[in-house]
Amino acid sequence: MDISLLRQIPLFEDLSDDELAHIAQLIHVKTYEKNKVILLEEDLGDTLFIISKGSVKISRINEDGKEVILSILSDGEFFGEMSILDGESRSANVVALEPSEVFMLKRSDFLDMLEKYPKISIHLLEELARRLRRSDQQIESLSLSDAEHRVANTLIRLAEDLGVHFKGSVTIEEIPLQQDIANMAGTSRETVSRMLKMLENKGLITRDGRKLIINNYLEFYRNFAT
Ligand code: CMP
Repeated sequence: MDISLLRQIPLFEDLSDDELAHIAQLIHVKTYEKNKVILLEEDLGDTLFIISKGSVKISRINEDGKEVILSILSDGEFFGEMSILDGESRSANVVALEPSEVFMLKRSDFLDMLEKYPKISIHLLEELARRLRRSDQQIESLSLSDAEHRVANTLIRLAEDLGVHFKGSVTIEEIPLQQDIANMAGTSRETVSRMLKMLENKGLITRDGRKLIINNYLEFYRNFAT
């Protein structure tokens, strides 16, 4: 494998070429078609996944059988670390949202790497802290009663994960399906549709097919971030 591919992965960004070449030997590459299940909640896990291309959704099914989307991860991000670190079963389902390619690392190799290259451990901890912060925000957002805030808040999370900033606006090239946004926001698809129309009428967002632009991101963030 070409080590320049590994250099683009934030987890590995401080490593030397020699170190990356060593890691490259341990990686297996696998591709998944759109909607393919990569991990199932409750399965036993001994593999770490790093997304080299594509995006996945992380979700759980609640008591009523409804899907709750915890996060959407894309290029360069990793998943599957929780079972590796605590030895428990998989904490969530992971499904490919588009044709995706992943780098796979065996548990024992990944744990060896954490000992050998402390910089990877630091990046891992930084990312876990970021995810905990996001989950705290999500809990706070879900406890807000009004749907406009919950949907707008979900757009902020999507903008942070998938958006491209340009002159004060943020463009999300392919916004998830309205049902998926609803499952992230803890509301119904109809409410999402209504709220998106309302945000559009207020001039806060612009839509073109699956493309969504938050016109003035700073203002949007000030109004809606929890
Ligand atoms: P693991 O429990 O091994 O398998 C499911 C994976 O989903 C988990 O590791 C994490 O990588 C990922 N995951 C679980 N919860 C969240 C979350 N709240 N945000 C982002 N990723 C998560």
